[in-house]
Amino acid sequence: MVKKAQKIIVAGGAGYIGSHVVVELLGAGRDVLIIDNFSNSHPEAINRITKLAPGNVELLERDLINPAHKNDIISAVKDFDADSAIHLAGLKAVGESVAEPVRYYETNIGSALTLLSALEAADANTIVFSSSATVYGELNQNPVDETGLTGATNPYGRTKLFIEDILKDLCASAPKWKAINLRYFNPVGAHPSGQIGEDPNGVPNNLFPFIAQVAVGRREKLSIFGDDYDTRDGTGVRDYIHVVDLARGHLAALDYLFAREENGAIDVNLGTGAGVSVLEAVAAFKRASNKDIPYQIAPRRDGDVAEIYADARLANELFNWRADKTIEDMCADHWRWQSNNPNGYKD
Ligand code: UD1
Repeated sequence: MVKKAQKIIVAGGAGYIGSHVVVELLGAGRDVLIIDNFSNSHPEAINRITKLAPGNVELLERDLINPAHKNDIISAVKDFDADSAIHLAGLKAVGESVAEPVRYYETNIGSALTLLSALEAADANTIVFSSSATVYGELNQNPVDETGLTGATNPYGRTKLFIEDILKDLCASAPKWKAINLRYFNPVGAHPSGQIGEDPNGVPNNLFPFIAQVAVGRREKLSIFGDDYDTRDGTGVRDYIHVVDLARGHLAALDYLFAREENGAIDVNLGTGAGVSVLEAVAAFKRASNKDIPYQIAPRRDGDVAEIYADARLANELFNWRADKTIEDMCADHWRWQSNNPNGYKD
């Protein structure tokens, strides 16, 4: 029988993607230790996780970049007897990263380094990292595969690339290390229960949370950033992926990595392989919610590309994963979460 990683550290496990990953891990009978400082997440997410997926889950409320917390984190990872880690802790707002680059480098890279020290001390040497399609530069052809040119356009994206490289260096330094950099396309949607979902602080930067807040009446209208791109309807095209498909991808990646004979670090896209335009996303959300989504056309947003979608074949070849859920599922589930929790976890 193939041995599977049983005891998993999930750094950032209370966050949007992390909470869905933890539900999938618990559902597969794995034991989880969440490390989170709730800087952009809510303790209520943990309560909801435990209701959705009974199992062994512990929480260590510590900050991975606080030097005073480092020893606690190292001891907890050792005591937990971790096999592997999934690293999702970090800051993720592109605009904020341009305004506060030092905080982004310090937080994102510092968190990764602390986690790696703790894994080393616990002799756990497999890690799945939450990277992003943002690491692909602007010169690639669609669909983009993992050999695509990298080149981040902002500090947030550069932290993702740096951490990918750190993991490659680490794997090259000692054969015991194995890593997968999962390059997410655009995660959206929520758990079908409507119990956990994305709860951004302040004005959402990303399309789906913004649309959902317009639909629920928290915001007046959506601004569509450009309708004169060279795409089928002039608006930007992205590869939206249901967060539950994405979460399943982490479990599949972990099992693959743990069983894999070769060492080293590999990059793997998680996307559907299909593009959806902003106008198509708005129309799909309107159908799912039965709400009007007023919008206006606004100027293009700096740094946006016209179109990007994944070549998602490698994840299928390596770990037999593919995204199953449609844009209708993404909208229906995102809407269920938003309409059940108009103010997110604060309700
Ligand atoms: C963004 C980040 C990316 C990050 C990802 C996380 C940028 C440039 N990139 O990707 O690094 O990994 O989020 O999911 O911010 N749009 C509107 N109106 C809005 C918001 C978005 O028209 O109010 C459009 C955008 O122009 C784009 C599409 O919707 O065409 C998707 O935007 P968004 O959800 O912000 O994702 P990305 O920009 O692809």
